[in-house]
Amino acid sequence: MANMIVVGTQWGDEGKGKLIDILTEFADMVVRFQGGANAGHTLEVDGKQLITHLVPSGLLHEGKRIAIGPGVVLDPETLVSEIELAGEHGMLERGNEFLLSHRAHVVMPYHRALDAARESAKGKSKIGTTLRGIGPCLEDKVARTGIRVSDMIDKDILRRKLDARLPELNALLVHYGAEPVTAEDILPRQNELAEKIAPFVADVGEIVRKEMERGRSVLFEGAQGTLLDIDHGTYPFVTSSNTVSAAACTSVGFGPGKIDAVVGVTKAYTTRVGSGPFPTELDDADGQHLQKKGGEFGATTGRPRRCGWLDAVALRYTLALNGCTSLCLTKLDVLSGMEKIKVAVAYRLDGEEIHSLPADSQAIERIEPVYEEVDGWQEDIQEIREKDALPKPVLHYIKWLESLLNLPIDIVSVGPGRGETLMVQNPFRRG
Ligand code: GDP
Ligand code: IMO
Ligand code: MG
Repeated sequence: MANMIVVGTQWGDEGKGKLIDILTEFADMVVRFQGGANAGHTLEVDGKQLITHLVPSGLLHEGKRIAIGPGVVLDPETLVSEIELAGEHGMLERGNEFLLSHRAHVVMPYHRALDAARESAKGKSKIGTTLRGIGPCLEDKVARTGIRVSDMIDKDILRRKLDARLPELNALLVHYGAEPVTAEDILPRQNELAEKIAPFVADVGEIVRKEMERGRSVLFEGAQGTLLDIDHGTYPFVTSSNTVSAAACTSVGFGPGKIDAVVGVTKAYTTRVGSGPFPTELDDADGQHLQKKGGEFGATTGRPRRCGWLDAVALRYTLALNGCTSLCLTKLDVLSGMEKIKVAVAYRLDGEEIHSLPADSQAIERIEPVYEEVDGWQEDIQEIREKDALPKPVLHYIKWLESLLNLPIDIVSVGPGRGETLMVQNPFRRG
């Protein structure tokens, strides 16, 4: 039995949802630990696609505890529609228990409005947020003016908190030329939503700690990617939460010694949605190949994702930040048909070779990647299920990455479907 954290090692959309779906089979409980409805995690099972934004991607299994932890910022509108969707997929009929932390902060309609108003005021220098109100909600959390699930499900407290918050918030909305809001505008719908989520509200942190004490396995689902981390990412083009593995400990509430494995999910190339520096971005036929063959459109916003080569410099940094114990390499099938495959192994910045990611986004913009390349392969590998059956150049590419990144690749994903996976080593058994 082991406890495991799964994180994205790039700028998000690495395929975390698919991996969580696969690994939930070996866990007793699955907990989403940060972010909010900015995430879009795609599962494909029996030919059917399901995208989750808040509910953990383990929902298709049976007899599991499926929880949203205290560190998640929760949009009740999205959550309620997702609980309904999960219901259509039989989540609650298969003996699963769905739990929602009473400490989670609530994304209110005015958080979304402020997110949108600020982005449009920024014009060209916008962050390219998902417009899900994530930044404003987390600002309220840190400013100690937020509304938590425990407040939301008590009508009087919710009213009081809104009355206290709205005057300042409205001044901000008006500053950006947006419409102010009143408690009367918000309360009827929020009270209705509160009634729908109330049956699931629980002390998720306490339940996780008890599960760990009993020796049961807990799987922690990260959202976004490490380069979007508020402290360690490509600031200010980041999200507003810590996306690194350690955030599971602080946000759910348990000690780091409880974790046995940290699996980093890495796409075989790189993508990014929204603005911000991206050293290995491609603006050529190879980039178009990745975008088209990889179907690279945002699962939350539908925006086309920017595409580029794998970046081993950035990856060494993010794997170290997370303390990854092994990797899952996804979308390897997308590289089929490419003549040569490149990986950035160093950067040149202002004429000097460097081996780490600068802190300053403007400096990252000036980076020129130093690439190494290997031969590509033409074969379709989507049907292959055993590592040894992969064509030689594919095996060579995997081995090369393992040596560049100094970590074993436990799982290789060759298609979006649950079965399109090569489990070289079960990371739960490694733990
Ligand atoms: P997440 O946010 O990390 O969960 O990733 P997303 O769901 O946003 O984006 C990953 C996309 O790639 C989804 O459309 C998945 O269905 C798809 N996907 C995952 N793994 C593979 C793979 O190995 N090959 C291909 N072709 N698609 C994959
Ligand atoms: P998953 O979990 C990719 C990006 C946005 C934007 C920046 C800030 O599916 O991997 P925010 O709305 O969080 O304030 O936006 O972060 N972003 C993501 N990009 N995948 C995600 O989640 C993301 N969540 C946020 O595009 O650049
Ligand atoms: Mg996604």
